[in-house]
Amino acid sequence: MAVRTIYHYPDPRLRQRAAVVAAVTPTIQQLVEDMAETMYAAPGVGLAATQIGEPLRIFVIDTAGDDEPSKLRVFINPEIVSKEGELVWEEGCLSFPGVMEEIERAAKVRVRALDRDGEPFELEAEGLLAVAIQHEHDHLDGTLMIDKMGALKKRIVDRKMRRRAAERSGASAR
Ligand code: NI
Repeated sequence: MAVRTIYHYPDPRLRQRAAVVAAVTPTIQQLVEDMAETMYAAPGVGLAATQIGEPLRIFVIDTAGDDEPSKLRVFINPEIVSKEGELVWEEGCLSFPGVMEEIERAAKVRVRALDRDGEPFELEAEGLLAVAIQHEHDHLDGTLMIDKMGALKKRIVDRKMRRRAAERSGASAR
């Protein structure tokens, strides 16, 4: 297992559309292990493969609270089959360190996917889990939380993240 590098906005790798996983092989299972380790190390509640530069349709989620036992959920080739209602949730993203913004999502979703053994399952989710599923599913299409923000917030977050990236690379922020 290995903790992998998480790419930050505006890295172009985050905009890649992820490909369907053809078969859940030991290589894919290793990638899932790495994703889980990377998510827990961050720490975060969800991570999509595209965030570590692997354009495959996989994400992992663990919404357990600090005082609850961890519950890793693995979604391979996920499809959101239905959405219901609306809710606004203050979201963060491991690719947007330091950014928390209110985003509008469906309140309830039904998702179909393969688990880490390649077995199909369906899950109905609401609240934080529903938000996380929609957020991570977006990553697989190259859609990021910034795309869901209003024009002003979008500009502020874009500027903040670009300045941060410039500082990190040692270039001038101006
Ligand atoms: Ni994210």
